Amino acid sequence: MTEAYALEDYCSDLRAIAAQTSDEEEILQRVGPLARRFVADKSWLQPKHYETDAEQGFGVHLLHEEPDHSLAVLVLSWLPGRGTPPHDHGTWAVVAGVEGVERNVRYKRIDDASRDDFAELEIKHEFDAHEGDLVCMKTGGIHMVTNETDSVTLSVHTYGRHINHTNRSQFDLESRQRKAFIIRVD
Ligand SMILES: [Fe+2]
Repeated sequence: MTEAYALEDYCSDLRAIAAQTSDEEEILQRVGPLARRFVADKSWLQPKHYETDAEQGFGVHLLHEEPDHSLAVLVLSWLPGRGTPPHDHGTWAVVAGVEGVERNVRYKRIDDASRDDFAELEIKHEFDAHEGDLVCMKTGGIHMVTNETDSVTLSVHTYGRHINHTNRSQFDLESRQRKAFIIRVD
């Protein structure tokens, strides 16, 4: 049997970790297992979390953020055949799979980052994230997520700061343009 681990439990543990360290390696090591417990609990899961946004390709449902926009917990619902462009988060990120399989492509930036509107990316590795799998990234980590299945997939995303408040980037692989990446959140 899975031990109960509700949203309040997860958020109070996140607050304790953030108060104890700002070392991202340590934060990811500590938040990862908690994110897995949280997605296993599922007491937070509601039918509305499956609602998607056809315009952006995925729905974003806010479960929690602190008043200063730190420690954001979001449910993302991905439409079949859709996904994101390559992007960073401007903060640390822990993604835990809830339902279905999400394709992840991790990139590294190979230009010298001297221009604000230009970025050259190279694929680092690709993998499928299943239910209960973790994708952990420090600030500056770049990835692309796609749902290549026939059903809506769900994942819980925990960030050091709400990603609409981090000046994060999306990247166009062909034009090599870097642009701001703001998402619509329910
Ligand atoms: Fe992401």
